[in-house]
Amino acid sequence: MSGENTLLMVKPDAVAKNAIGDILQRLEVEGFVIRQMRMNHLTREQAEAFYEVHKERPFYGELVDFMTSGRSVQVALERENAVAHLRDFIGETDSTKAAPGTIRAEFGTDIQCNAVHASDSNENAAKEIAFYFGD
Ligand code: CMP
Repeated sequence: MSGENTLLMVKPDAVAKNAIGDILQRLEVEGFVIRQMRMNHLTREQAEAFYEVHKERPFYGELVDFMTSGRSVQVALERENAVAHLRDFIGETDSTKAAPGTIRAEFGTDIQCNAVHASDSNENAAKEIAFYFGD
């Protein structure tokens, strides 16, 4: 199997809903292969560093609070065209606007509690996978 790699995170809201298995199953059925996986309760330092790109945004503090509110699952995935395909498959950031059938429409609540994160470029996928799993 050869393809692109990307990082998916199942966020604390979806973990609290017991939706980890359902989300991972949908990804596997869609052709994503789970390469590496771990469950963490992120520290503030980890959440701040992971989302550093959003540091100046007004929602940054609340985002870090949310991401440290409970356990999350980090998953390195492989698939052809993985980055773009996963972004389509999870839907828009705002769960209330995500297309029916997408992960965020199904499991998310709003623009912050949106069930999952996915890398937005190949460059960021490599960085985010290295952040959680090393090079
Ligand atoms: P994610 O794809 O993980 O990237 C940044 C996260 O910030 C986003 O999902 C949401 O959980 C959160 N967030 C909260 N408010 C906003 C906003 N107004 N715009 C974008 N992201 C937001």
